[in-house]
Amino acid sequence: MPETTCIVLKNDTDGIATAARSIRAGRLVAFPTETVYGLGADATNDHAVAAIFAAKGRPHFNPLIVHFADADEIAHDVIVDDRAEALAATFWPGPLTLILPRRRESRISLLAGAGLDTLAVRVPAHETALAVIRAAACPIAAPSANRSGHVSPTRARHVLDDLGHRIAAVIDGGDCAVGIESTVLDLSTPTPAVLRPGKISTERIETVIGTVHVAAPSSLEAPKSPGRLERHYAPERPLRMNADRARPGEALLGFGPDTAGAALNLSPTGDLTEAAANLFAMIRALDTPENQGIAVMPIPEAGLGRAINDRLRRASHR
Ligand code: TXA
Ligand code: MG
Repeated sequence: MPETTCIVLKNDTDGIATAARSIRAGRLVAFPTETVYGLGADATNDHAVAAIFAAKGRPHFNPLIVHFADADEIAHDVIVDDRAEALAATFWPGPLTLILPRRRESRISLLAGAGLDTLAVRVPAHETALAVIRAAACPIAAPSANRSGHVSPTRARHVLDDLGHRIAAVIDGGDCAVGIESTVLDLSTPTPAVLRPGKISTERIETVIGTVHVAAPSSLEAPKSPGRLERHYAPERPLRMNADRARPGEALLGFGPDTAGAALNLSPTGDLTEAAANLFAMIRALDTPENQGIAVMPIPEAGLGRAINDRLRRASHR
């Protein structure tokens, strides 16, 4: 693929206008969302969508999330039932992605949906992301702005490290507040299923639409949400979960007040929201040649801890 030099845009009116023009012209622009940085392209432009897969090295069977500025706009492209409407009213803009049946007349590139008869849609809760989508005046396909299989980016620097020579621009909007990717909920089946845990918990979703299944991670069955492939979110060095202490050569990633010997601490007060926000940046910071591996202290399997442990399990899978 041709080498380009990625321009770093300011998170201001000019930066957003430049980003939107670039996306309209079919180029790839990364921008912050509340979860992680997304690699955006005009979702209706087949060439631009194909360029996302090429830049990330992403397998073509792995579909992308299409981002909208307003919940009302998804009805052109997907069939919205009562459940989707209630969830959108409760959680959007926000870190929840809905899988819905695709409309035949949808203008979204078939490649964005990997040829499936469903589409993943989301309205992000980030002013910059919303401004870019509005200014570009098209739905924006945006996977996380990392190389396929690698750790998601929560800072512009991470995007440059992974994709700096492969994309037109990145808007530097600082650190992402949530830090892990959106909850993915499949509404294309009679019983809704969480395909990827995230900030919006299964319990909160159940208060709105009743019982929800949680899909078991599996690398064997044909992936319904290929982001669930077990080896994903992986640093280059081995990562070990539920560690009390570092083994020789390992760097210890702590959690909570009692972390003697930890190189970094996800949250000294044991706060899961803070830990999620720090997770990917700290894994990247420890994934360096001085360390032979990363040992992560136990994270409670409750609330956002389940989403954190989900990412750590994949990162530790070899
Ligand atoms: O927070 C996020 O969701 C971020 C920001 C940028 O919005 N985006 C993100 O995109 O994480 P990506 O491509 O890294 O992850 C999308 C996940 C993948 O696991 C993909 O397989 C799944 O959503 N997905 C997309 N379309 C799907 C579909 N039609 N059916 C099932 N799973 C789908
Ligand atoms: Mg991703």
